[in-house]
Amino acid sequence: MAAETKGKTFLLTGAHGFIGAWVTKRLLDAGARVVVFDLDADPRRLRLIMDEAEVARTKVVAGDVTDPKALPPVFEEFGVEHVIHLAGLQVPTCRADPRLGAMVNVVGTINVFEAARLSGGRVKRIVYASSAAVYGSGEDSRAVSERDEPQPSTHYGVFKRANEGGARVYYLEQGVSSVGLRPLTVYGVGRDFGITSDPTKAMKAAVLGRPFHIRFGGRTDFQYVADTADTFIRAAVSGLEGAHVFNLHGETVAVSDVVLEIERARPDARGLVTFEDAPLAIPSEFDDAAIRQALGRLPSTPLAEGVRATMERFTQLQSEGRLDASDLEQ
Ligand SMILES: NC(=O)c1ccc[n+]([C@@H]2O[C@H](COP(=O)([O-])OP(=O)(O)OC[C@H]3O[C@@H](n4cnc5c(N)ncnc54)[C@H](O)[C@@H]3O)[C@@H](O)[C@H]2O)c1
Repeated sequence: MAAETKGKTFLLTGAHGFIGAWVTKRLLDAGARVVVFDLDADPRRLRLIMDEAEVARTKVVAGDVTDPKALPPVFEEFGVEHVIHLAGLQVPTCRADPRLGAMVNVVGTINVFEAARLSGGRVKRIVYASSAAVYGSGEDSRAVSERDEPQPSTHYGVFKRANEGGARVYYLEQGVSSVGLRPLTVYGVGRDFGITSDPTKAMKAAVLGRPFHIRFGGRTDFQYVADTADTFIRAAVSGLEGAHVFNLHGETVAVSDVVLEIERARPDARGLVTFEDAPLAIPSEFDDAAIRQALGRLPSTPLAEGVRATMERFTQLQSEGRLDASDLEQ
């Protein structure tokens, strides 16, 4: 991947968020230039996974994707070539304030595509975060593929689905290509908000020796964040034309198995992590044949390894007095 990324300029909206921090890290590791565009100027999640010298290599623009005038001058100033759009509000925020959710998640995405359209062809493709939430509950007896009809059951899922439609129109009418990726339960250091953040919070709680209750059970499609980040980058440099939407698939595991892995990594935490019986209202297994066909082999960190890496990093942060536990109170 380094050959396609080295020296190239990537603009990442939402780069101070969880997935954004990891995409930033992987891009910097691969020699890219990273322009962070985020409402939140605080790089606290970057600091959890990189050192100060690395964090200082990012160019930070504090801005709002809902502002139509904000992005075009940033694309121009930095000569942006690749765009990964991750800024967004999650399920609980969209539920509490659907108007704001639509502004950020839908209008914000339109503003990103508009900025690409105005770039005079320099930005050829937008890679954006859609979500497995475009599927409501439903089919769970087999892996869900892109041929299955999305029936979102949350405002958040509806907004993500609207973006997939908008992306298609931007290609048909303006020639802006795109790749929408649909992650489900992404885990790793920096995940701190939304119901699917509970497994990561449970890992943190175990490191701290505290009890934690995961608010869902059953099985879910679980993906380690470094793999998610690499897939976004692969899509950005892929050369794909058209408006593509792909499911992502990590490993479909029972929440009880996640708890077992946590206890294997920290035997002293046995019994501290419990979970609800009710599964998430999203199918638990996704078929990723389409993206593998388009992009080739994708990284796939086994559950045991991802859990161990996450808990090792939490342990290190704790030993440095930098393990923020405020998210465990939510
Ligand atoms: N984490 C997951 O498991 C998961 C699953 C499916 C989809 N997604 C999607 O992936 C994307 C990234 O997810 P995440 O977990 O990193 O989310 P996150 O909440 O950690 O990060 C989102 C970032 O967007 C920024 N942001 C919010 N409103 C903004 C605005 N108006 N202008 C500019 N920046 C703004 C926030 O400051 C934050 O840094 C989101 O679009 C999310 O919906 C995430």
